[in-house]
Amino acid sequence: MNKLVEKLAREQYLEAKEILWLLENNTVELRQDLSEKARAVAKKTFGNGVYTRGLIEFSNYCKNDCYYCGIRQSNDQVNRYRLTEDQIFNCCQTGYALGFRTFVLQGGEDPYFDDDRVVAIIQEIKKNYADCAITLSMGEKSKKSYQRLYQAGADRYLLRHETANKGHYKRLHPSNLTLENRITCLRDLKEIGFQVGTGFMVGSPTQTIENILEDLEFIKELKPQMIGIGPFIPHHNTPFKNANPGSLEQTLQLISILRLMLPKALIPATTALGTINGQGRELGILAGANVVMPNLSPVAVRKDYSLYDNKICTDDEAAECRSCLAKRMASIGYEILTNRGDYPE
Ligand code: 5AD
Ligand code: FES
Repeated sequence: MNKLVEKLAREQYLEAKEILWLLENNTVELRQDLSEKARAVAKKTFGNGVYTRGLIEFSNYCKNDCYYCGIRQSNDQVNRYRLTEDQIFNCCQTGYALGFRTFVLQGGEDPYFDDDRVVAIIQEIKKNYADCAITLSMGEKSKKSYQRLYQAGADRYLLRHETANKGHYKRLHPSNLTLENRITCLRDLKEIGFQVGTGFMVGSPTQTIENILEDLEFIKELKPQMIGIGPFIPHHNTPFKNANPGSLEQTLQLISILRLMLPKALIPATTALGTINGQGRELGILAGANVVMPNLSPVAVRKDYSLYDNKICTDDEAAECRSCLAKRMASIGYEILTNRGDYPE
């Protein structure tokens, strides 16, 4: 067993130069050591259970223009849609019957869904499914807005920081979006009391291992309850259409490192990971992830929510995805859980 892996597992901490060494020497053997330790750490808290979240992609309108993202405002090839409130509630109904106890409302930054509208949706879901958690993933807002959404009953908020390096952030986003504001949002969300998720893309254009080190240091300091990472995958109608995708191996290594750094974190095996490799999500769980997030959106709109090319599961009904994932998890000795799956305090 590699000495640094043992130290990381023991102390949940490594010096910067030690982390850099791991990132630079991502061999099969090292990854095996990392995933073995990471899996053991996950098992200690979560057993062979995998939490599941029902993802509802409620709007693909977005006022932002992130260079990597397929639903950026400047992409005029997107067939834009908004789910109606009833469509959203129907997704919850289907999801509840399938055993989901967390609903993730994810969308672009769509001004149509202002605070009043989102508050009403949260309250209605909470009224009908009091035993469910609501996770929001709808971008940057003022602290006041976040407060209203929390008071309405939202439990968790996902907002990836994307990169903790200022220069790299600028290379991924237009100038109206800043790393500083992103971090302010994350701190606001934490202060308000949300369970907070952050994360980044692995292999996004111009990312260096020093950038990744900064991401890990940022996450260690923020102590989010949830950490979402997945490989960058180019979208054909974005400025990064010719960029290389992130790698399976680096993503798996980082899942393991993050598991060892934050033993109790909720870490999904993401759809992007399942997109670059047919077994990506299974490998993610085996590397230390403990969450899967199948799609509950109506199949008719699935293809229109393409942040990147070749996204999986766009033709499958919620029930099919649910049973497909159950089988996939069973094939590696894991079991999908049907509780809320909160952060273990
Ligand atoms: N490839 C992979 N992930 C992407 N995301 C956005 N665009 C892409 C892409 N091209 C990720 C971002 C965002 C999350 C919702 O999806 O990290 O925060
Ligand atoms: Fe969606 Fe397999 S998880 S079809």
